[in-house]
This record gives sequence, structure tokens and C-alpha cells, in this order.
Amino acid sequence: MTAPRPDADPWRPAFHISAPRGLVNDPNGLIHWRGRTHVFFQLNPQGCTHANKAWGHVASADLAHWQRLPVAISPTDWFDRNGCYSGSAVEDENGDMLLVYTGNVRNAAGERETYQCLARSQDGVHFDKLGPVIDGPLPGHTAHFRDPKVWRQDGAWWMVLGAQTKALLGTVLLLRSGDLRDWQLVAPILSAGAHGYMCECPDLFQLDGQSVLLFSEQRAARDGRPASNTAGWVAGQIDLNTGDYSHGPFQRLDHGRDFYAPQTFQHPDGRRIMLGWMGLPEQDSAPSVAHGWFHCLTVPRELRLINGQLCQQPVDELSALRGAETRLESLQIEGRMPTDLQGDCHELELSGISGALTVELRANAESRVALMLEPGQIRLVAHEATGRETLLGAAALPPGAGRVLRILTDRSSIEVFVDQGEITLGARIYPAAQARGIALTSKAGARIAALSFWPMRAAWDDQDDSIATGGPAEARIEEVTK
Ligand code: FRU
Repeated sequence: MTAPRPDADPWRPAFHISAPRGLVNDPNGLIHWRGRTHVFFQLNPQGCTHANKAWGHVASADLAHWQRLPVAISPTDWFDRNGCYSGSAVEDENGDMLLVYTGNVRNAAGERETYQCLARSQDGVHFDKLGPVIDGPLPGHTAHFRDPKVWRQDGAWWMVLGAQTKALLGTVLLLRSGDLRDWQLVAPILSAGAHGYMCECPDLFQLDGQSVLLFSEQRAARDGRPASNTAGWVAGQIDLNTGDYSHGPFQRLDHGRDFYAPQTFQHPDGRRIMLGWMGLPEQDSAPSVAHGWFHCLTVPRELRLINGQLCQQPVDELSALRGAETRLESLQIEGRMPTDLQGDCHELELSGISGALTVELRANAESRVALMLEPGQIRLVAHEATGRETLLGAAALPPGAGRVLRILTDRSSIEVFVDQGEITLGARIYPAAQARGIALTSKAGARIAALSFWPMRAAWDDQDDSIATGGPAEARIEEVTK
């Protein structure tokens, strides 16, 4: 396959993690190791379908500029031959990087088998598989048994694992190990029955005095409601020794259309940082597929619990990608106000907003993406040249909310952070290359105390850009997966 030239592809992300070719899904193995942050991700290097899952790999010294590394593990062994599924990374007692992942297998009868497996690296680039350490589902569970997230605490290794009971109910299991090889079940930590038929990609951590559990809940269609895949969180207090977990309600993590299977890691400076997949399991195509690639990850988002709300903000390091700032103050918006600001990669911060306001992004005469701040709600809508309107996200706003908007626009994505990040919306967009305008609109009049605009530079250096044209790193990917 001849890879298209990047200039023929208006949607290649400039500062989001994606692959030059193939399908990307869940972030995996997030770890800060020997001075660099490593992000792995589910990758089908051979096409834009959910098959051949390997672990793609990038690393960064500053969370803003990224380097592509060769595919870390590929589905080549009996215990993972139908997919090296999601998992996590830890530094073991020898200082090596250890990947803990799910080996997905279809046996001769076509039935699913799952193994929790290890792979080790001493240089953070090359990985040796060590094989399974958990040989199948625990009694009472189906083969939907996957996505180990492992961490060290109180002198032991702990794992949370997504699982399905034999009654086809989703749950999350807590396990403990002294040596990362021999694992014992502590207890299920979510009550089966409350969270659909499967809980994928769990992640448990302490944040601001609470035990926070992230997971992605899968529900079947029921009572007139459609099937759903929702990434969310609960917070409370867990006793790791018993698995007793009293927690509040499941709440959605992001209100945009394209967000799923997030994972976090702890930065050495103490910050809890999350990346999500900007996609959903049921999506089977997008305009980028014609260019040979599909999906991307969110930017790294710092998490905080503020007044019981899980808040997200882009990590501060992203400001290293900003170009020169344009700042406007005391804006009074009446009707439609086009601005001189434009581009396909930028950050926009509006503060001190009052009144109903629409921010139009990637706008030209025929199309635009509209972020609409209305009494009690915020909505993100794509208006295409064909006249079609697509809802990209929506959330209710409590009274007084919506004073600050931070918007990161990349070539084919938008991430919106409201106020302190209590509400976020992440969505993929596929505008025409020439749709680059920014306009502000208000029917009844709105005020903005300050608006800052920065063009954003690419997170990949020139050499990495050549990958999109079929450069050396792409050849490397082929070699590893053959
Ligand atoms: C979530 C998920 C995981 C699985 C992986 C396979 O999107 O279904 O549960 O490990 O994707 O790619």
C-alpha cells in the first residue's frame, strides 16, 4: 500500500497521538520511566479494522513533543495470537519496564480464551514476552476477562481487571501479588448488576484523598434505550485488604461523542494524568480511513478532585507547543462577529463569559463547528456544507457554570474544557482544509472579559513527520508485525 502524502490529508493530527497507518484504540501501559513518559496504544498496524491488535508506542520527555518508537508487542504467540489486548506498565524491582496485558485467543472451536501476560524491557524499546501469569478467567467468570491495570502500594502489587460474571454482568476484580507472577483474588470491587454486561479498562488510584475508579461500561439496549459504551468514574474509599469499596454514583468522564477506555499514570511530581481514546467501539469508519488511518488519543489531561467533581485540564506542558498569543479584552458580542483569528490547530481560552454565546471554529461560508453555551447547557454541533448537522457532544450546566472555556482544536479533533474542567467534551471533526475561521455569535448579547488565542505547533519533529509518507519508522512497524 502506498501511503498518501500528509499534505493530501487535512486530518492528520498535529499534536494528538495517532498512527500514520492503521487503527488506534485504547491508550495502554502509561508510565513515566527513566525520565520519559511512555504511551502505548492498541494498534492494528495492518488496516483500519479491529483486528491484529499490537501495542503501538511513543515516548516523550516533556509531555508535549513525542517520538515514535517501534511496535512493542505483536500478536505472534499461542497466548495472544488474536490480539495483544489492553493493559498497563510498571517498573519492577530490577528497574525493568514490565507490560501486563491481555492475550486474546480464539480457539479451534472459535471460542474466546484470555490470558493475562507479561512482557519485559530493559531499554524501554525492545520487549521480551514472558507468557501468561493468569491462565484464564477465575471461576464464576466468562472469557471477557481483560485489561489488567497494575500498581505498587503498601509493599504489594495490585491489579484491577475488567470482568464479566457467568450471569453476564460486568464487574471489576481486585487482585494482589507479591511478585507480579502469582496473583490472588481479593474481591470484586463493583457490584455486578449495576454496570451493564462488561466493565472494560478499569483504573484505580488515590486522588485528593479519595479512591477513584475509572472504567468503561458496556450496556445492551434495554427499555427503549440504545446500547451504550460509556467511560466513567466513581469515587469513595477502598480497603485494599478486603476489597470493600463504598463509592458514589457512576458519572460520565467526558460529554463528547468520541471518548472511551481512558487510562492514567502518576507523574513523578505527583500529578495524576489521563489519556483517553478519541473513539468508540461501534464506530466502523471515518473520512481518515481513505487515507489509511483511524482514530487518535486525547491530549494528556491532568486530573483533580475538586468539591467532589473529577476535573480535567490539559497538562501545562502543552503550552510549549503554543505560538505567539493574540489577546483580546472586554468583548461585547452582538449578532455574528467574525474575528481575524484562524487556523486548523490552535488553543482558545475565553474567560469571564456572561450571556448565551456560540463559538464557531473551523468556519467558512459553508461549514463550521459550533460550540454553543446556552442557559443550562453546552452543545457542540458540526454544520457540514451539505446542510447536515451532527451533535458532537452535550452536557447540562449547573447555574453559574460556563464562565471559562478552553478549546483545543487539532486538524481533526476538538477538546473543550469548561471552567475548572468539571465538564469536558472530546470529539473528532473532519472539516475541509480551507475551513479555518473563528467567529463569535450571540443573539441576545454576550460579554467575554478576555480571549486568548495561540496557534499550536506539531508535537512531532520533521523526521517523525516523514513517517506519514512511508518513511523508515513505518518500515520498522512492518518488520515487527510480519
Ligand atoms: C476497549 C477494548 C478492551 C480491549 C481492547 C481491544 O476498547 O475492548 O477491553 O482490551 O479494546 O482492542
